[in-house]
Amino acid sequence: MDLSDIKNALSLEELETVRVKLLGKKGIISQKFKELKNLSEEERKKVAKELNELKEKALELIAQKRKELEEKLLEEKLKSERIDVTLFNPKPTGAIHPITDTMNKIVDFFTKLNFSVETGPLVEDDFHNFEALNLPKYHPARDMQDTFYFKDGSLLRTHTSPVQIRTMMKQKPPIRMISPGAVFRRDYDLTHTPMFHQVEGLVVDEKGKVSFANLKFILETFLIHMFGDVKVRFRPSFFPFTEPSAEVDISCIFCNGVGCRVCSHTGWLEVLGCGVVDPNVFKAVGYENVSGYAFGLGVERFAMLLNKINDLRSMYEGDIRLMEQFK
Ligand code: DAH
Repeated sequence: MDLSDIKNALSLEELETVRVKLLGKKGIISQKFKELKNLSEEERKKVAKELNELKEKALELIAQKRKELEEKLLEEKLKSERIDVTLFNPKPTGAIHPITDTMNKIVDFFTKLNFSVETGPLVEDDFHNFEALNLPKYHPARDMQDTFYFKDGSLLRTHTSPVQIRTMMKQKPPIRMISPGAVFRRDYDLTHTPMFHQVEGLVVDEKGKVSFANLKFILETFLIHMFGDVKVRFRPSFFPFTEPSAEVDISCIFCNGVGCRVCSHTGWLEVLGCGVVDPNVFKAVGYENVSGYAFGLGVERFAMLLNKINDLRSMYEGDIRLMEQFK
């Protein structure tokens, strides 16, 4: 019998067909084993030995061929997925990253309403990140669980709120600002990455000129701009730097507020935090006779909702095949 079919197989599928033809239940070799019983004792021994050797040989050749074909397949795959980054390509192959895209939309909205864009350092100190924001020494948000600390006591900012403090300390009111940027927390799961992005907003003017009503109007307008025809709900909450504080929900964009898995059957999705600036914050920056409102939101949360992303971690793996879906 001829085992050359094994050598000639061009693909893993072909190899499998050959294997079945030789060694499958009804295969040629198996058939020959069954015919042994028709032979004389002496011949049976001889033929059985030959058959066993043939079977061994066939198994060995198949394993060898399989390895060869698998290696070839892998090589072809690597070759076809190779990206030569030095090639000039007049048509860019990439896409705007969904987080960048969402950030741009948010920043665009507020700059059109005359908000200035302020930035601050990623490595912050305790004063700007916590103390001046009315987060006293014993506050649980300072927990090592959440904050990345350096040996000298400085830290990676846990929110973009310290930029409020920095801006107020270098400018006089009125202030109308947002601060977009990266923030850091010790968190890693389906919806959290240790680095993520926030946009903070702050409006400060003479006492009595800025109210919760202004805050409500601007955030409603903003959320309808971002999510389309949604209902907006303000829910009483607590933040150390605002009083009163609220969390803001939109009607679930997946079920139109009926209730589904994404909104935990509540019909609502929480999207940001806000409030009227706490007097202690103004005291910390030396402002007097002013009033203001502030808000803060997570860009990743917005991007996940807008793009139906369910594993945030995939956003930071840099896989071009994933990103191309967002073209
Ligand atoms: N800094 C808050 C956070 O990181 C977000 C926030 C909530 C900012 C309410 C605000 C605000 O300015 O008023 O979760």
